[in-house]
Amino acid sequence: MKNLENEAKRVLLGNWKDGFSVPCANLYPFQWKWDSGFIAIGFAHFDMDKAEKEVATLLDAQWDNGFIPHIVFHTKSDTYFPGPEFHQSELHPDSSKKYKSTGMTQPPVTGFVLEEMYNISKDKPATLAYINSVIDKVYHNHQYFYENRDPHQEGLVYIYHNWESGTDNSPIWDDIFATMNPPHYEFTRRDTTHVDASERPTNREYDHYLHIINIAKEHNYSDEKIAELSPFLVQDPLFNSMLIKSNEALINLYKMIGGNDDKIKQLTEWNTKSVHSMNTKLYDENLKVYVHYDLRNNKPIPFITSSSFSPVFANIATPEQVEGLVTVMLDKFGGEDKYLCASFDPTNERYNPKKYWRGPVWVNLNWMLYRGLRKYGYSELAERVKKDTIEIVEKSGFYEYFDARKEIHNTGKAGYGGGDFSWSAALLLDMLK
Ligand code: DGY
Repeated sequence: MKNLENEAKRVLLGNWKDGFSVPCANLYPFQWKWDSGFIAIGFAHFDMDKAEKEVATLLDAQWDNGFIPHIVFHTKSDTYFPGPEFHQSELHPDSSKKYKSTGMTQPPVTGFVLEEMYNISKDKPATLAYINSVIDKVYHNHQYFYENRDPHQEGLVYIYHNWESGTDNSPIWDDIFATMNPPHYEFTRRDTTHVDASERPTNREYDHYLHIINIAKEHNYSDEKIAELSPFLVQDPLFNSMLIKSNEALINLYKMIGGNDDKIKQLTEWNTKSVHSMNTKLYDENLKVYVHYDLRNNKPIPFITSSSFSPVFANIATPEQVEGLVTVMLDKFGGEDKYLCASFDPTNERYNPKKYWRGPVWVNLNWMLYRGLRKYGYSELAERVKKDTIEIVEKSGFYEYFDARKEIHNTGKAGYGGGDFSWSAALLLDMLK
């Protein structure tokens, strides 16, 4: 495994720019919010200074209202579309005066990333001092979510764009897109000059992505207006699981730092409500998994994805619920011919084993499932997730996503999207430790 470890380090160091990392050269040439967190976990194992800088740079781009953008455009690059001139996040009065960014966010990983960094650290007092210098920003980010993204005060925050979910083109969104009829925009894709178009979203899908942003822009990215008007408004179990996990991490860290009782009390209140709503509103009794909820059209979206299992990462599910989740995972995703864990239900007709989030295996989801299953005592299944992750990377390299079908790995190209992808390297490194 030493070679794999060294390779992972090579990928991370190769994608390090001054003060932050790109997820992947050319394809994603800026800093992305959730990528940045996972990358910091990898760096924490061999270069804590870079891990700390990675997180600090992201937090430096935080807006006055606590919002943290999904992409921070640190540098000029013409290899990416849509860039800052399309997003125009400066329309929002609270936006960063220092950095250009998008006006949407991504899953709130930063809280639990700080706790991971602390656990990995060999110099705990120094790491805790660093955490003390940034933790209030992360708290402010959670406050932003609960105060601006939870219109019914349910403890479940919404996302208003599929790019906020991180699971960009999942089939979960298809029915929402079918309610929209966006114009055909004139634009030049850049992603498909770096990656085979059959592994990326279609141009028509991009029309929808741009259309939602245009609606937000027309209203200067006002949260109230977005909640009222965005055709895409979803409560996502993956996004909310990460928020809950990060709340829990902030509680643990504030306790270690000392003081901050008010914040601990507030985080605990948020978490109690969020866990309750996850287990009522987002848990589907029939499917025995967690599902997304379409807040615009007031209905659950009854599809099974790897996000459906993610509440195991955040101690949300009861032992009975986990038993149900595991059964579904093994039945539908875990056949002997497959690596765990496909991003979308392989038994569903919308499954596409090569296309981005419509089927392929992703290392970050596997990392969360591995951690969660281990914690709930499913050590054998956790080990399988880990073994599968190592094996796909060993066979194909540090790709962005992978085919779940074992036969493809034995016969041809089975790693897709960008190569030398930072979080695949970072989280694999963490799994090997
Ligand atoms: C992309 O460009 O596909 C990114 O995933 C958006 O966040």
